[in-house]
Amino acid sequence: MSDSKLYIGVDLGTSAVKLLLVDGKGQILGSESREYPLIFPQPGWCEQEPAEWWRACTEGIHALLAGYDPSRVAGIGCGGQMHGLVVLDDKDQVIRPAILWNDGRTEKEVAYLNEEIGKKKISEYTANIAFAGFTAPKLLWMRKNEPENFARISKIMLPKDYINYRLTGIHCCDYSDASGILLLDVQHKRWSREMLDICGVRESQLPRLYESYEVVGNLTPEAANAWGLPENVKVVAGAGDNAAAAVGTGTVKDGSCNISLGTSGTIFIASDKFGVDPYNALHSFAHANGHYHLMGVVLSAASCNKWLCDEILKTKDYAGEQQDITRDDLGRNPVFFLPYLMGERSPINDVNARGTFVGLSMDTRRQDVVLSVLEGVAFAMRDSYEIAKALNIPIKSSKLCGGGGKSPLWRQIMANVLGLPIEIPVAEEGPGYGGAMLAMVGCGAYPTVEACADELVKVKDIIQPDPEITARYEKQYAKFRLIYPALKDVYPKLR
Ligand code: XUL
Repeated sequence: MSDSKLYIGVDLGTSAVKLLLVDGKGQILGSESREYPLIFPQPGWCEQEPAEWWRACTEGIHALLAGYDPSRVAGIGCGGQMHGLVVLDDKDQVIRPAILWNDGRTEKEVAYLNEEIGKKKISEYTANIAFAGFTAPKLLWMRKNEPENFARISKIMLPKDYINYRLTGIHCCDYSDASGILLLDVQHKRWSREMLDICGVRESQLPRLYESYEVVGNLTPEAANAWGLPENVKVVAGAGDNAAAAVGTGTVKDGSCNISLGTSGTIFIASDKFGVDPYNALHSFAHANGHYHLMGVVLSAASCNKWLCDEILKTKDYAGEQQDITRDDLGRNPVFFLPYLMGERSPINDVNARGTFVGLSMDTRRQDVVLSVLEGVAFAMRDSYEIAKALNIPIKSSKLCGGGGKSPLWRQIMANVLGLPIEIPVAEEGPGYGGAMLAMVGCGAYPTVEACADELVKVKDIIQPDPEITARYEKQYAKFRLIYPALKDVYPKLR
């Protein structure tokens, strides 16, 4: 392995792209972030312009590489926000803004797939059932509501695949991200003919499938010019952001677990063998290491705290808001928060659910509200963890990554609500770091994703659950579980 080689990891997130420059020993030499806007055309809808992703990446890359010899860059790997529907016409021009993973417009299409076609069949075809954010229901929505756009579709792809297309000229997708389209037969890693028929899609409209660490191609002359890199740089297929984050935190061995507290919150369990949870409450997807994983998704996680601080408390001092919260407060908060600001995916699959505070009184303090938001997200993650436990998956500890995972208080809450030791990796930049690691494997620096993770991923801190606080949280979680069932039928009436 040549240590002088460099790798670029791209984390194409929901609010920003984060770019990492990593050397062959896994050392992060630099990082750059560039934001792009979200478009909310109607309440519960969420879109973004693919051109903005390309602009942000292109701007960031020049700053990232400043001072480095670009000829040292060997490979690029991208982890991207999943499920977003990107459609190109026969001239490879974007037809309409991408419809994102947290967009809730497809309630009718989800009901059609899960109830008329039936969950049993959909799960047989894909290993999953339909959720509003998945890509296939969006195609059905487009066919009905924008028939002229639907008729123009020449290629369907996911957000990071648009970047890979702009870099290589190749329409590609990896198995981990493709799993969330709901057109893939996840177990056999091929497009499902039945699902293509149901959605009125031809196989020629879909990208070519790759393992995440496989090289898709080199840079086109235009891309090399735009990014200031030589044309011989290799681009790997990359992964959905959660699978990429799992690689970046070393969550690649059977039964290992990673929790991400980003815009969404995910609990990701790596598995050597394919398996489906009988109720399809957890997603059953391919992993970026060539195997599989199960995953629960909370649609709004760190975004709940961001919303509370930015929009309601009008502050950017997130740490300051948490500083008065003591050990004594943990597990004793009379205020509860349901974090369903964009509806909810796992396990309740309810686009109508909304964020809810319960238990406010005249003596509620500002910090109780802040704490309730952090706890509400942890309880929602516990809902998915409970399903994994019911499947007898023996989880002994979990890695933690994502912006929310930087809060020492939130780390403690997660450890105690889940009753699990939480491990903090040295490199906390989950998807971007995982993307760079996939590029290393694609470029031959390591034989497998596991070998790369064994060598590069180190843990710097472990937060152990405290038996007293965990016991208090058991009681609090039991109360939390009472709230959603009591409100389930109210939410649709509030619309
Ligand atoms: C996963 C999901 C989110 C997005 C966030 O199924 O929808 O975690 O990938 O970027």
